[in-house]
Amino acid sequence: MVLYLKDLNLYNFKNYEDLKLEFSAGINCFLGDNGSGKTNLLDAVFYLSMSKSYFNSIDNQNIRHGEEMFVVQGNFETADKKHHVLCGVQTGQKKTFKLDKKIYERISDHIGKFPVVMIAPNDIALIYEGSEERRKFFDSLISQIDNPYLLDLMQYNHYLKQRNTLLKQFAEHNRIDRDLLAAYDEPILRLGAKIFARRQTFMLEFQPIFQGHYETISQYKEQTQLVYDSDCAVAEFSEVFRQNTNKDLALQRTTLGVHRDDFEFKIDNYSLKKFGSQGQQKSFLIALKLAHFEIVRQNKNLKPILLLDDIFDKLDEKRMSCLMQMVADHTFGQIFVTDARPERTQQIFAQIEGDKKFFNLQNGQIRNE
Ligand SMILES: Nc1ncnc2c1ncn2[C@@H]1O[C@H](COP(=O)(O)OP(=O)(O)OP(=O)(O)O)[C@@H](O)[C@H]1O
Ligand SMILES: [Mg+2]
Repeated sequence: MVLYLKDLNLYNFKNYEDLKLEFSAGINCFLGDNGSGKTNLLDAVFYLSMSKSYFNSIDNQNIRHGEEMFVVQGNFETADKKHHVLCGVQTGQKKTFKLDKKIYERISDHIGKFPVVMIAPNDIALIYEGSEERRKFFDSLISQIDNPYLLDLMQYNHYLKQRNTLLKQFAEHNRIDRDLLAAYDEPILRLGAKIFARRQTFMLEFQPIFQGHYETISQYKEQTQLVYDSDCAVAEFSEVFRQNTNKDLALQRTTLGVHRDDFEFKIDNYSLKKFGSQGQQKSFLIALKLAHFEIVRQNKNLKPILLLDDIFDKLDEKRMSCLMQMVADHTFGQIFVTDARPERTQQIFAQIEGDKKFFNLQNGQIRNE
């Protein structure tokens, strides 16, 4: 099924005061100097899909400096329907998120309705940062295809936070109530088991698709491994968890569980972070993102909107031509691309057939289309 963002309207969002844009259902290029606001536009599209920024998780900081609120709104079109999505953030107030003028009671219900895949320079954090980044990547992906998973995850985090607060209070007041603590073990173990099982089945689906993309990009030069690593992967995890209570009390936090899960990235069985070349690392990231695209497409029968930030700067000839071949083959649906070098983008897309639109940006305004 076709999905595309028809238009976008920004009010006091980052460096934009008031902006209206109409998009092509095919390729849209944002061109302009450094700091002109190209990435901010991709982030606005990301907001409409995921109800948050890809780059800055503090909503308030996406309000234009000196202002009190921002509004991002746009119209998505699918095969037969049109949907209006609005996100409003005001300092000191709860975020407003609306679908067709109706406020969501639970914003998380929106996730997965209009899926996007972002490929951006800071994705390298997936390799270099701690396990939290990788969990976020896979959780956000699973949530797009399985909304109940997101609810389980939010509930799990809620109970985990309460259990950790309790552990700290016990230490502060020098008094331990084991029954009270055990009351939190039940939901944490129950939800944790569900999350563990979902991540496991997800990886079985994800791995071959990821590997296929990596092989294409690298032209079969090396083997990759993507290993799901969890405390829960032992027999009788509940027992192990309960026996660990004294350690939790001593360290004042819950030391075992799915909140510590990691996904190891390897090439020929060696750590990608420690031993991978820059090209291998880039290929790995692109393959992860293309697999993300493919998984959502298969599960929702919908091509996610692709957001490509500064991708031409980061890729070499081979990888570029691989990606551009996919664009030319119409593997993707709607695409948004940014580039600080207009001639390059125009040249790349000149050879590709289909609907295209170029936007030249300058200081938060459109110079011409
Ligand atoms: N909350 C905010 N209020 C006002 N301006 C902001 C805010 N957040 C970011 N900006 C401004 O937005 C601009 C950056 O925009 P953006 O990251 O979209 O640029 P870009 O065109 O992608 O640049 P580059 O080519 O360097 O990647 C900067 O000038 C920055 O100061
Ligand atoms: Mg940018």
